[in-house]
Amino acid sequence: MNVRVSFPRKIFIKTYGCQMNVRDSERLVATLIDYGHEIVDTEDVADVYILNTCSVREQAEIKAIGKAGHLLRKKLRRSGVLLGIVGCMAENLAENLFKLNSGIDFIVGPRRIGELPAILTSENVNRVVLLGEANSQDITEAMHDFSRGNVCASVSIMQGCNMRCSYCIVPKTRGVETYRPMESIVAECEILAKRGVKEIMLLGQIVNNYGQNAVEFVNNRSPFVRLLERVDNIPGLERIRYMSPHPKGFRKDLIGAHCRLKKLCPSVHLPVQSGSDRILGAMRRPYTRARVLSIVGALRTSVPDISLTTDVIVGYPGETEEDFQATVDLLNGVKFNMAFIFKYSPRAGTFSATLPDSVSESEKDRRNKVLLDIVQRHSIEHNKMMVGRVVEVLVEGHAKRGENKFCGCTKHGDKVIFDGQVTLIGKFANIKITDFAISVLYGELLST
Ligand code: SAH
Ligand code: SF4
Ligand code: F3S
Repeated sequence: MNVRVSFPRKIFIKTYGCQMNVRDSERLVATLIDYGHEIVDTEDVADVYILNTCSVREQAEIKAIGKAGHLLRKKLRRSGVLLGIVGCMAENLAENLFKLNSGIDFIVGPRRIGELPAILTSENVNRVVLLGEANSQDITEAMHDFSRGNVCASVSIMQGCNMRCSYCIVPKTRGVETYRPMESIVAECEILAKRGVKEIMLLGQIVNNYGQNAVEFVNNRSPFVRLLERVDNIPGLERIRYMSPHPKGFRKDLIGAHCRLKKLCPSVHLPVQSGSDRILGAMRRPYTRARVLSIVGALRTSVPDISLTTDVIVGYPGETEEDFQATVDLLNGVKFNMAFIFKYSPRAGTFSATLPDSVSESEKDRRNKVLLDIVQRHSIEHNKMMVGRVVEVLVEGHAKRGENKFCGCTKHGDKVIFDGQVTLIGKFANIKITDFAISVLYGELLST
């Protein structure tokens, strides 16, 4: 690309939501820099404020609307500053956002983010609204920003979601599934490897749906598994992860891939949502608790020490104590390494928002806490067991705190902090685990 704008802007971007949004912000940053703009970390020096927003729960929208109000007050004190809302909340609330905040200059949905850099090259940006399907091949898909390091990178393989889970706003905000061509994903991964990237995360709402009805199955291997095989063959890359798979299409070929493909990390995020078949049915999640247990069993038979994480919603309409106990049992039985527990939040426009939000807020809080305690207990058990072991860590960069502290992850996804030096970044280090907190291990560097 390399278009140079005649009036470079200083742009501040704040990102909410999931890794898809983080990736969208990254490609936006890379493209804006390519256009000649500057990305700044502080609001006070910026002349464009962009909030890349999430709509998945009400709280996510409240946060972003609050922040937009705060930025509007800043904007009013300075002239010529632009305020834009992009991402899922932009798509979800659309022009209604102008009513909530009259200072908004542009509203851009997640599928149109690639068009934003061009919009910002024009001097006059006044109430621009870009929503719905992208209207051209989005060339920003493969753009990466290496300014914050290039050890790990995310690659988006698809957009949208064809499922209709009763509670979920994502199909509205991100539209129907569209798949990037396998060749362009592989080419992007090859370029990343040449730039020194060691670990790649393949991203999509349901990655194991990749290419369904668009790319052929070969020898009973799904398009997603074939994509994994291609990425596994790229020289220089050392680790591959993916997020998120759906239990529905988690078949033998994917389990087999975990045995066959050397670079595929032994860690899977498998969102189960509930342990009660009745609630899974009500949520329109097309699998049962037994199916989840059979996937977990097959994965653990193939890769015994595989790390498993999940998402769970508590307080779905009509969730009884018995349903909730079924989820408690599932978490106690599977012992996930980590689980994200969410309190059900009705989203206007989804099917479940038409049902009474029958579980009280205090009961949602209680269920949330019970599950968090279970997850925490399992996580501490796991971390305790790691003390004294030597693990291989891919060093990603400086830890948030401590001058000589560095951090990285094991292939199982455990985060490790240790004393090290800058030259280790991008390398594999052998670390002896000496201590832990709930979500992090601490260790000593032995060798590289
Ligand atoms: N595509 C992924 C999930 C994307 S949304 C999947 O199907 O697994 C991330 C998580 O947010 C979901 O797994 C779910 O646990 C949670 N979530 C989605 N909608 C929600 C809602 N209305 N209330 C509470 N949590 C919700
Ligand atoms: Fe939402 Fe369900 Fe699609 Fe996940 S699979 S993004 S929960 S509709
Ligand atoms: Fe992600 Fe939130 Fe959108 S979870 S897909 S940013 S609604």
